Amino acid sequence: MTERPGRTSLTIRRPDDWHVHLRDGAMLRAVVGHTARQFGRAIVMPNLRPPITSVVAAAAYRDRIQAALRASSGEPGHGNPAATFTPLMTAYLTETLPAAELELGFREGVFNAAKLYPAGATTNSDAGVRDPAHIGPALETMERIGMPLLIHGEVTDPEVDIFDREAVFIERHLQPLLRRHPGLKVVLEHITTADAAAFVAEGPANLAATITPHHLHINRNALFRSGLRPDFYCLPVAKRERHRLALVAAATSGNPRFFLGTDSAPHGREAKESACGCAGIYNAPFALESYATVFEQENALDRFEAFASENGPRFYGLPLNGGTVSLEPISADDDNPELVVPAMLELDNGTATPSRLVPFHAGEVLGWRLKTT
Ligand code: NCD
Ligand code: ZN
Repeated sequence: MTERPGRTSLTIRRPDDWHVHLRDGAMLRAVVGHTARQFGRAIVMPNLRPPITSVVAAAAYRDRIQAALRASSGEPGHGNPAATFTPLMTAYLTETLPAAELELGFREGVFNAAKLYPAGATTNSDAGVRDPAHIGPALETMERIGMPLLIHGEVTDPEVDIFDREAVFIERHLQPLLRRHPGLKVVLEHITTADAAAFVAEGPANLAATITPHHLHINRNALFRSGLRPDFYCLPVAKRERHRLALVAAATSGNPRFFLGTDSAPHGREAKESACGCAGIYNAPFALESYATVFEQENALDRFEAFASENGPRFYGLPLNGGTVSLEPISADDDNPELVVPAMLELDNGTATPSRLVPFHAGEVLGWRLKTT
């Protein structure tokens, strides 16, 4: 990292994570504290097994998240995240989910948005949608009531090269969908290409995108650096360097339609290191530090708060958080071993066997560290 003179601590309005996988059961208990200690709210993905397809299931999942957080709070130095964190729930769109269920959940404040997974595109997406044109009535309802549609934007056509699946999705599905539903609020999640960044930047005001920390830091070379590296495998998969640069430019541009969404997607060690390893990067433990490092490299720290704490709630039509978080700069030559991101986390999950997860940035020293209060 380039050392900058006069680096001082950075305090921003408490941010939100507009895309996270918190899982369930033991894994939920292991990971929820990492998200809650940084973020005021998080849009929680519904791709559980079985997926969250009803208001009742979402409310019960929300209760389990809050219970897991209360159980994991009390760690010294972490304040009381259970008191400041609100999980925002999402519905998993299927071709049979009734539009009335979406409307009920949205009006009751249980569903904040609905997620469109193309069937087979990613982890637990088999029950997803084969073609967005099949769910017209649901999308019409969402458009009418102002409920955001969150999209995993990749085609699943095996004929399409995996590195082209996002760009092809925009052309084949997203453009027609926006034409059919011009008033629908749409978030293209975890964008990975220059094509997506340009499409969103040039698109209408009701179209936005989340950007992950890993897509700002790595390109596809990371997957193959001196061997096969499953910890850098996620979906949509990282692309060429020119795409990473376009994402960095978009995130730090100040355009309010780009905002923070980590797509933190924990999979245990065994699930990552297997003949058919799962897609997903566990970046929650150092997410803010990871983003801040990029913004500083781009001389754009003055735009960090908008990306992390303002653009998301404004797009969703939610109030900004009260309260703040602070980050302290770390000097590149600081050799305090506690500043190195651990190679492996062994997280208490309330069972006899801790959850073993490799965090994003394992072994690195980031430019910033969250201050614990
Ligand atoms: C996510 C997961 O594991 O649930 N994986 C990932 O690589 N991002 C699913 C998703 O968001 O695609
Ligand atoms: Zn995701």
